[in-house]
Formats: sequence, C-alpha cells, structure tokens
Amino acid sequence: MGRLRSNARRLLLEAGVIREEFTATQLSQLQAVGKELMAAREDQGKALDFYVAAAPSAQVAVDVFAGEWTSLLPEELGVTSGHSPLFSDERIQHMIDWYGEAIVGSKVLELGPLEGAHTYMLDRAGADVFAIEANGRSFLKCLVVKELLCLQRARFALGDFMAYLRENTERYDLILVSGVLYHMMDPLELLTLVSRASDRLMFWTHYYDEKRLTQSPTAHKFQAPPEPVQFEDTTYLLHPRDYLEATNWAGFGGGPETRARWMEREDILNCLERLGFHDIEVSHEEPDHMNGPSMMLLARR
Ligand SMILES: C[S@@+](CC[C@H](N)C(=O)[O-])C[C@H]1O[C@@H](n2cnc3c(N)ncnc32)[C@H](O)[C@@H]1O
Repeated sequence: MGRLRSNARRLLLEAGVIREEFTATQLSQLQAVGKELMAAREDQGKALDFYVAAAPSAQVAVDVFAGEWTSLLPEELGVTSGHSPLFSDERIQHMIDWYGEAIVGSKVLELGPLEGAHTYMLDRAGADVFAIEANGRSFLKCLVVKELLCLQRARFALGDFMAYLRENTERYDLILVSGVLYHMMDPLELLTLVSRASDRLMFWTHYYDEKRLTQSPTAHKFQAPPEPVQFEDTTYLLHPRDYLEATNWAGFGGGPETRARWMEREDILNCLERLGFHDIEVSHEEPDHMNGPSMMLLARR
C-alpha cells in the first residue's frame, strides 16, 4: 500500500497534476475518486447493450435470453431455443384428455410455468390459466412466449406461489403442480395448500428412493441426512437435495433456496389420500429417470 502511494505520488508529480507532496489522507481521497471514475467508465454505455440493431423477428425476441432456454419452442416460430419438447408434452395432453371437454373455459392455476410451455398447451385447449412464477427471468421468458404465440387466455404473475397460496381464497377447477413438488423445502405444506384450493390436481414429480438414487448421476446431491417432519399424526422423512453447481446457470429452473427436500413415493400418495384425494391415477412413471425416479399423478376428490 505504501509503495502504491509513493508510486501514485511520483506519477502525479511527474504528470504535473500536483506540485507539492500530498498527505496520506489526500492521496487516499484521490485514490477513492480514481476508483469511482474507473467504475463509472466500466458502467458507461451499459444501457446501449440492450438495444437490438436487427429487424424485429421471433428469434430476436427469443435471443434476449439466448442460451437460457430449456424448452424447444413450437416449430411454427422457426426459432432456435432449447431442446426439451415441453410445448408438445405428452403428459399435459394426457391430463387434458383426462379432464375431458370441460377443460374449455375451466379455471386453472399453474405453479412454476418456467417458459410457459404447459400454459401454451392449456391455452390452446381453451382453459383460462393463471400461472405464478418466482424467477424473474423465467417470468419474462413466459411473457416473450405469450407475445410470440398470442396466448389469449393466460395470465402470468411474478411471485412466490407459496406466499400466494397461503393467502388464497380462490377455488380452481384444476391445479398444475408439475415439476415443483421436489423443488420445495416444505413439500407437505404445498400439498396441503393446493388441496385447499382445488378438487383436481395434476402432479409430475421426482421422488426419493434410496436404492434407485444411489445408482443415479444425481446421488452426490443427497449428502445431508433425512429430516423427520410431523404431518398430522404421522412422521414423514424429507430428503435434502442440494442444487450445487446447477444454480450457476442463468436458465436454472429450480426452487428459490440452495436446496429442496424430496418426499418418498408412498408418502406423497398417502398424504394426498389423507387430504381427501381417493381417486389417484399414477402414470408416466420412470423409476430410472436420470434426475431421479419420477411419476405423474392425476388426483381427484
Ligand atoms: C422444473 S421447473 C417446472 C416447469 C414446468 N412446470 C414443467 O413441469 O415443466 C420449476 C419452475 O417452478 C418455479 N418455481 C420454483 N419454486 C417456485 C415458487 N416457490 N414460486 C413460484 N415459482 C417457483 C421455477 O422458477 C421454475 O420455473
């Protein structure tokens, strides 16, 4: 630090900026001003980075989030996006068929729409969807999708769906709980909250199965011991799973904390039964899914 100061002093004297020796305090003040000037210079022109020189197109809009898309956007848009075929998701088609013709005009709550793929399918099927997304970048991607695909019946809201559900008094014909239960720190609370707001629930979720998970590429994320949680008169074991490096990607689509707690398969089914869902169809089960065992549930009261 001393050498830095004397170098600065020498340079300032040589450049004729100062004619006499500065005190240490004055030099510190000068250094602080210098740092601020450097920072201001780095920030200069940042706003210009957000301008687009190309003529408007779907690709230009998609590229606001270049490299951050998970979903393969519909072919009609002719754009390069992600790879996962969520806009033509067989599981959602199955759910729409299960619901039947009454899907037209039905009031659907969707939790965690990510990029609006399932919202798009429901919109095209005629449902009125209210979709709540906590990740600001995902929310904006949903709005890009809404604009490009002219979604007429869907509304997206930015916020935490748990906070919404805790205060909610609305009833929904159907709640889509796809890809979110295993991102919760308190999945039991989510089950309770959605069961209060609808008599029909759709889940797609991973679940904890020790035997399967020890073989899976995701095994190293389950380092912490299981945590017992009381629900009514039963104790369930929740299994912490750390996101680790996954949160480094700007397109990350997990929960808002650094970890989540997974439930076991039978506990999910048992809990739904207790909440009054006696008619549960299990389908699309993949015990060897690369990210951990998974299944789809269509639950009805
Ligand atoms: C794995 S993605 C699932 C996307 C889609 N529902 C599907 O099944 O393909 C989870 C999504 O839920 C969102 N999410 C997670 N926790 C949330 C919360 N508490 N409130 C709102 N959105 C949340 C994430 O940001 C992400 O977009």
